[in-house]
Amino acid sequence: METLIRACSVSDIEEEDVLRFDHGDRTFAIIRSPEGEFYATDGLCTHEKAHLAEGVVDNHDIECPLHFGTFDYRTGDPTGAPACVKLKIYQVKLQGNDVYISLT
Ligand code: FES
Repeated sequence: METLIRACSVSDIEEEDVLRFDHGDRTFAIIRSPEGEFYATDGLCTHEKAHLAEGVVDNHDIECPLHFGTFDYRTGDPTGAPACVKLKIYQVKLQGNDVYISLT
């Protein structure tokens, strides 16, 4: 069964920006693309667990703040060293002005 968790409001994130969302003992990065679409990934870099929400969104990549590895946040694929392990991604659903992520 799908578990939807409200992460933030649509207006909380500018286009081409990222917001940290903590839920229980988990942390996520909620990302808004330059086109205004929302995406969600694990919040910690797969390299050495830096918080990706402290990084920078550049077009369709998120750049880790610690060693500047990059991931395509739409697929989780690493796109720049030293990132080399795929990032887990989550489905996002919009309901009105609310952004939900699916944890199933
Ligand atoms: Fe993210 Fe090293 S911790 S690239």
